[in-house]
Amino acid sequence: MAYVLGIDVGGSGIKGALVDLDQGVFASDRVRIPTPKHSTPRACCDVIAQIIDAFADQLGDEPIGITVPAPVVHGFVPRMANLDKGWTDLPALEFFTQRLGRPIVLINDADAAGLAEVYYGAAKGQPGVVIVETLGTGIGSAIIHNGVLLPNTELGHLELDCHDAESRASAGAREREQLGYKEWAKRLDRYFGFVEMLFSPDLFVVGGGVSKNHEKFLPLLHLRTPIVPAQLRNQAGIVGAAWAAKHL
Ligand code: BGC
Repeated sequence: MAYVLGIDVGGSGIKGALVDLDQGVFASDRVRIPTPKHSTPRACCDVIAQIIDAFADQLGDEPIGITVPAPVVHGFVPRMANLDKGWTDLPALEFFTQRLGRPIVLINDADAAGLAEVYYGAAKGQPGVVIVETLGTGIGSAIIHNGVLLPNTELGHLELDCHDAESRASAGAREREQLGYKEWAKRLDRYFGFVEMLFSPDLFVVGGGVSKNHEKFLPLLHLRTPIVPAQLRNQAGIVGAAWAAKHL
């Protein structure tokens, strides 16, 4: 079968790999290039083009999937929290399609990770409402009901105790404020408790790089809802981007 290229645009790195969508696994090595310091759409697009070039001889004409750390509403990025503000109101789908000269599918990074976990990972076969939260520089969220995504939910920006939730409870906030896991878990408990009250999900899945240390903080949370670490970890964005390129 032909493999699909997925590219994940993050705050610190832009990463791509070919994905085997039968298995939900990488079918190539991953290429990672640091996100440009001045992370304008143009600068990020140049890095994406370099990643595409690295796989050029293995790509056909089918779309590639690209994530962005922002909502994507009918191809537009209405706001951007953690990259250059030049992304605000960007007709991103048109911009990238023209500059890259090939068909693409653009999707929010947490939505991509959520789809990957639901189709291949920790939430595979889980009926009902699954909420995947990615804890990184920001907090990303994906709400999936019986396999169908409700896109662009942006739960990381819920206002909690007079703060934007991600500014207090993301993995970035933990590092910035040098919080121990116990202290950070108190903030996560508030955050997940609030999300639980709003949506009564059947399962929470927690992704992002920090989820590899899940045993240090997930057992400290007091939720009714089962909460499990992501299985695809930092591959989820790329796998989900490729899945979206094929199915959305
Ligand atoms: C953005 C989301 C994104 C999340 C994780 C948030 O600041 O608003 O769109 O999914 O960070 O990157």
